[in-house]
Amino acid sequence: MDVGTALLWLSAALLALPGACGDCQAPPRFVFAEPSGPTDASYPVGKMLRYRCRPGYTGDMGKSPYVTCLPNSTWGSDPDFCIGKLCVQPEIPNGDFHFSTNLQFGATISFTCKAGYRLVGKPTAQCILSGNDVEWDSTPYCALIPCQPPPGIVNGQLSAVHTEYTFGVAVTYSCNKGFSLVGNATIHCTMDDNLNGIWSGPAPECKEVRCEIPEVENGKNLNSFATEYTYGEKVSFECAPGHALVGAHTVTCDADSAWKPSLPVCDPRYCGPPLRIPSAELTGAASDSSLAGTKLSYWCQPGFTTESGKSLEVTCLLDRSWSAGSKLCTRQQCAAPTIRNGIVNEDNFLFGATVTFSCNAEYELKGSSSAKCVAAGDGVEWDVALPSCERQRSDVLCGQPPSIRNGVHNGTRGTAFPQGSVVVYSCNDGFTLAGGSTIQCLATAQDRGSWSTPSPECRDGASSIIVGLLPLLLAMLVMNF
Ligand SMILES: *[C@@H]1O[C@H](CO)[C@@H](O)[C@H](O)[C@H]1NC(C)=O
Ligand SMILES: *[C@@H]1O[C@H](CO)[C@@H](O)[C@H](O)[C@H]1NC(C)=O
Ligand SMILES: *[C@@H]1O[C@H](CO)[C@@H](O)[C@H](O)[C@H]1NC(C)=O
Repeated sequence: MDVGTALLWLSAALLALPGACGDCQAPPRFVFAEPSGPTDASYPVGKMLRYRCRPGYTGDMGKSPYVTCLPNSTWGSDPDFCIGKLCVQPEIPNGDFHFSTNLQFGATISFTCKAGYRLVGKPTAQCILSGNDVEWDSTPYCALIPCQPPPGIVNGQLSAVHTEYTFGVAVTYSCNKGFSLVGNATIHCTMDDNLNGIWSGPAPECKEVRCEIPEVENGKNLNSFATEYTYGEKVSFECAPGHALVGAHTVTCDADSAWKPSLPVCDPRYCGPPLRIPSAELTGAASDSSLAGTKLSYWCQPGFTTESGKSLEVTCLLDRSWSAGSKLCTRQQCAAPTIRNGIVNEDNFLFGATVTFSCNAEYELKGSSSAKCVAAGDGVEWDVALPSCERQRSDVLCGQPPSIRNGVHNGTRGTAFPQGSVVVYSCNDGFTLAGGSTIQCLATAQDRGSWSTPSPECRDGASSIIVGLLPLLLAMLVMNF
């Protein structure tokens, strides 16, 4: 045996020592599995020890049930090679179960019931061992919640009677003839927070309800004209014209035989004295206090007309005010004047306004130099005919005015007389003027100056008397002979 061989033996001996490398101690302990046979104090590397699942557990598919002694002296195995057996899903009619992890051996589940049911039994269950298998240690059930029989009432009855009343069942009451049902005719079996059956409300009452005929002064009953009213009947009111309804329009006959809310009142409403409206006058007289609904008529003063969209009729409203605003009549306007070859100096043509006219250069105003807008009938118009502007004719001249026998004129000899010049004639002593005393220089169609005709005449006063007496003298002569 050489030295090399001796060292090999030594190392082999060291490896074979208990607790040293190459040797495994007692096999591991698992909750879910145990060695299938008796165990030794130590095992050589590579030893595979078969395990079996403990009760309540079963081998996990595809995992090895062997535990192996590894070269670093530890035991190796597939993790969780046995798993808890499954308890069957519990069946709970009208209820449900809930779990936080799974339904395997050892798990705990809880139960609930749907509305109207309550749980009878333990509210939780655990998946436990039963012989070779697993099962739930308890299974509760869900039972319909019952109510006490519904309360009876006086002067009325239940429409139908059952032997038991469970959650959701409704019962209906009715009253004997002459009684009114106050409250809910139908109540149903429901539950409180502690899952006890209770009725949804108190049973109704059958009461003798009579409300008296509602009387509202200055008001009228719009709906019914019954001679008596019972529970729940409604009456609506309307007030007479000029009255405002204060309170509820509609009242209901209540269980205590009174109207609820209390009957309304019809309050008369008055307006004060009629409105003073500028440029308008009241038609006829009106008192200082008018009942709402009273209508007053106005008319517009001359030169004014009804404002567009306004009515001249003003009504007293329920809020004690008159329907119209302060303006009913509007000032009328005359037609805008136009002057050919001239201008109108103002632009206000409203009733009462005065306008003045001017002519352009070299034109002369003929007619009135101003006009005023005045009332005329229902409307307004200018008080004078509008003037015209005519071209000035400085070139039209008249010659010497004609001389007459026994008379003179004041035209100065030797001067030219422009268009429009006037001369006045007078007669010598003893002569009287016949015809007009003046003539005027006029323009002819040919733009020449010509004195107006006829010229006056001066007649002899004495000869005219003889001429006037002659027929009388002749008549006297004829009568004497
Ligand atoms: C031993 O070896 C195995 C596999 O080689 C390894 O998973 C494990 O962690 C090791 N144990 C120790 C204590 O070193
Ligand atoms: C009547 O029943 C309805 C609904 O069920 C409820 O809202 C009401 O409060 C009940 N009225 C009375 C007087 O109990
Ligand atoms: C003649 O007298 C009248 C009246 O007094 C006057 O209007 C007119 O201008 C006079 N005519 C002339 C030519 O002086």
